[in-house]
Amino acid sequence: MIKARNIHKSYGNLEVLKGVDIHIKVGEVVSIVGESGAGKSTLLQILGTLDQPTNSKQNDTEITIAGESFINMNDKQLSKFRNQNIGFVFQFHQLLPEFTALENVLLPTKIAGTSEKEAIEKAYALFEDLRIEQRLHHKPNQLSGGEAQRVAVARALINSPKIIFADEPTGNLDSKNADDLHRLFFDLRDKYDQTFVIVTHNPNLAEITDRKLVMKDGMIIE
Ligand SMILES: Nc1ncnc2c1ncn2[C@@H]1O[C@H](COP(=O)(O)OP(=O)(O)OP(=O)(O)O)[C@@H](O)[C@H]1O
Ligand SMILES: [Mg+2]
Repeated sequence: MIKARNIHKSYGNLEVLKGVDIHIKVGEVVSIVGESGAGKSTLLQILGTLDQPTNSKQNDTEITIAGESFINMNDKQLSKFRNQNIGFVFQFHQLLPEFTALENVLLPTKIAGTSEKEAIEKAYALFEDLRIEQRLHHKPNQLSGGEAQRVAVARALINSPKIIFADEPTGNLDSKNADDLHRLFFDLRDKYDQTFVIVTHNPNLAEITDRKLVMKDGMIIE
């Protein structure tokens, strides 16, 4: 699903990523752990097309998602690629406050040009999978933290992306809500063969993922 070779990222003299290689298979749930400042979010942003790597000395950086290379795409191509292939979940839900849960989840389908009927059917199915079907018309400030985060997951999944990137998706939840959402990730993987890459400080989650990658000082060390 993802193949990346020799990813570097520097800010001036500060080398944040020092040549990361990563391979992730379809349907894998992979966690990335490591100390604060190790470069986890930076790596996730680059893999998720939200940030650009710095050229490596050998000029041999490669990143493909589902066989497609995106590092030379222009902004318009990238937005389209992202909309079709990638879902994101962040620590704070980042739902739009003026819109209901359902409207938030439907937004990516509007950008993709999906028919409304198809989009709504998919959204209802996801709200059921995520056990928030009673919260369709609530605005974000009328949702609990766990519910809002589940809506954010539904929004990430609505376009059936090939891969979901999550950066501390349960970092803001209590342990029960966190464990609950972690279980849902695995249910969604089983049901949709969805691939997940999850940055986390949560040891319970890291232990139950298929593979745990440990980052230190800009490298994956195990
Ligand atoms: N825009 C930037 N300019 C300069 N330095 C940056 C920038 N963004 C990140 N860094 C630095 O890059 C390093 C890696 O940051 P990153 O956010 O990837 O860490 P992280 O592993 O996600 O940490 P945490 O667990 O605290 O979220 C940090 O030392 C950070 O200060
Ligand atoms: Mg981070």
